Amino acid sequence: MALPNKAHGELKCVETPEVKEHDVDILIVGGGMAACGTAFEIKKWADDDMKILLVDKAAMERSGAVAQGLSAINTYIGDNTVDDYVRMVRNDLMGIVREDLIFNLGRHVDDSVHLFEEWGLPIWKKDDNNKNLNGKQGLKVGLLKDGAKPVRTGKWQIMINGESYKRIVAEAAKKALGEDNIMERIFIVELLNDKNEENRISGAVGISTRENVVHYFRTNAMMVACGGAVNIYQPRSVGEGKGRAWYPVWNAGSTYTMALRAGAELSMMENRFTPARFKDGYGPVGAWFLLFKAHLENSLGENYAASQAAKDELANFAPYGTAPITPTCLRNHLMLFEMKAGRGPITMTTPEALAKLGETMDKKELKHLEAEAWEDFLDMTCGQANLWCATNTEPEKKESEIMPTEPYLLGSHSGCCGIWVSGPDEDWVPGDYKWGDGGKVYSQMTTVKGLFTAADGIGCSGHKFSSGSHAEGRIAAKQMVRWVKNHADFKPEPNMTAQEAADMVWKPVKTWFANKDYSTMADVNPKYCKPAGMTMRLMKATNEYGGGVATYYQTNQKALEHLMELFQMMREDCELLAAGDLHELMRCWEIFHRIYTVEAHTRHIMFRKESRFPGFYYRTDFNFQDDENWFCFVNSSYDKNTNEWSMKKVPYHRIIPM
Ligand code: ADX
Repeated sequence: MALPNKAHGELKCVETPEVKEHDVDILIVGGGMAACGTAFEIKKWADDDMKILLVDKAAMERSGAVAQGLSAINTYIGDNTVDDYVRMVRNDLMGIVREDLIFNLGRHVDDSVHLFEEWGLPIWKKDDNNKNLNGKQGLKVGLLKDGAKPVRTGKWQIMINGESYKRIVAEAAKKALGEDNIMERIFIVELLNDKNEENRISGAVGISTRENVVHYFRTNAMMVACGGAVNIYQPRSVGEGKGRAWYPVWNAGSTYTMALRAGAELSMMENRFTPARFKDGYGPVGAWFLLFKAHLENSLGENYAASQAAKDELANFAPYGTAPITPTCLRNHLMLFEMKAGRGPITMTTPEALAKLGETMDKKELKHLEAEAWEDFLDMTCGQANLWCATNTEPEKKESEIMPTEPYLLGSHSGCCGIWVSGPDEDWVPGDYKWGDGGKVYSQMTTVKGLFTAADGIGCSGHKFSSGSHAEGRIAAKQMVRWVKNHADFKPEPNMTAQEAADMVWKPVKTWFANKDYSTMADVNPKYCKPAGMTMRLMKATNEYGGGVATYYQTNQKALEHLMELFQMMREDCELLAAGDLHELMRCWEIFHRIYTVEAHTRHIMFRKESRFPGFYYRTDFNFQDDENWFCFVNSSYDKNTNEWSMKKVPYHRIIPM
């Protein structure tokens, strides 16, 4: 149910909130593509009397990574084979992936794309003369599911007119689940384990960002799918540009932190994504590389990626580096090589690319092509289009600079960190890749019973993008219903009462009321700290010691150890966070989530004594790949009762032959 927007600034906190309790069978935490997939799918499998509730920290129509829209769907299998999809993902992620999870997604993803089209998303098509038809024109040749040919940019990507992509998908989700089963503007702070069975999910506690209310939930099954983590490293944007980032700034690592604090095992948290993007506006490059066939040049005007030196460098990382599509991290690696040698800035040759495409076009077609170049950004990163206007950049006349961004943690795009989950119940899935309860396997369940995840939440896969995330949400839906049916007698008894949970989440407000009159300025007070200051402290520390842009993504044991010490102090100071309004209260818990997430990232980088993803990060003390010792997953877990982490190597199994 949507609540009215804030009219006059932030809503002040009261000292004692109202506490509302909810009993449900299934709780969906998140509102992005995955949660929309779950919401759409779940009622088809559920009994009529099953109570299902979705809570989103924002408003579903514009929440999650697809909020601003997209200009392409990057995973559509179409005429390709699912085996080849697995091979592509494996190659891009330097060999160590969960092929069972990737295959499972690959065999379901096209159905989600077909639904999007049915719900009104315009998908570009090829006509009989191989010309592009966009917008409504695409429908002239029929629907994708009936065999119409999409406009492929790369082997896996298809073009759309996707400014309203998320709205279309959210509308279908809301309609299927019912508005009464959706609560927006609720930020979940902590998941609650069961009193009688520790490794069993049984509830959650959160706050409203629009009312002075704490919400306490008891549930039988739960999905946590709150995206990846952004603003954990100092962004390149500063001053008036601050707030711009490539991935959504509201992704606070909640998925990883809430799951790890509930005891779920994480995997490959050392992986990160530092995408090469149009500088300052963070505009994506996919369409420019794949559709417009642009290339990059160094300051000497050289197409460095096509040079013999680049080929020799990539050969060091065979078979990945020598594959037809260079892995994303290695593309960055080549760019960083140029930058470190003083041959930056790196520019994209947009005028040359458009001129070449225009050779076979008449004037009208050429204008249309230029419009498409703008629309690529207007569909998904309108800030980049604004920046082009503000800097007098006409892409057909002026080149643009490309730059690798600050690190993000995610599992749905070209990264693979996340939670360790069970694969599907198939005989070709190795025994240690699947688990469940009572002799039954539950696909996408974490190592905590009853707790499921999807999209950015699932580690060791990647390249799901928007469509794959939706498909994974649908898979989780069916599994959660199965779980609830098979555990119909379970009576959730969370290990914290509603009042205990409310006291915990409201602590920053109590700190505020107790100390607010101690100084004259709200943000400066010897008795507490504010989340904004803590965020800056975190980002400075990770940037300088954890392989941020400050050091060209390089780090080493000594730097990491120092960073761990700083985390310890931040965690201590988090006990003194204070919030005067509801928005700030959410910020307190977001920074709490961010710190745990990036601490997990740091611990994984420390544990893996090699540099598996050159271009994303480098350990200067182990600046090589060591397949003999490290061709395996790294998994971690955390015990919140003892504050202890444990790390281990987990074997990799090849399922699809090379
Ligand atoms: S977006 O989601 O933010 O738009 P991005 O622009 O990186 O993503 O890329 C979209 C798709 O293009 C992804 O599937 C990515 O792997 C692919 N891609 C981007 N650049 C290249 C490239 N130079 N070569 C091959 N594939 C690329």
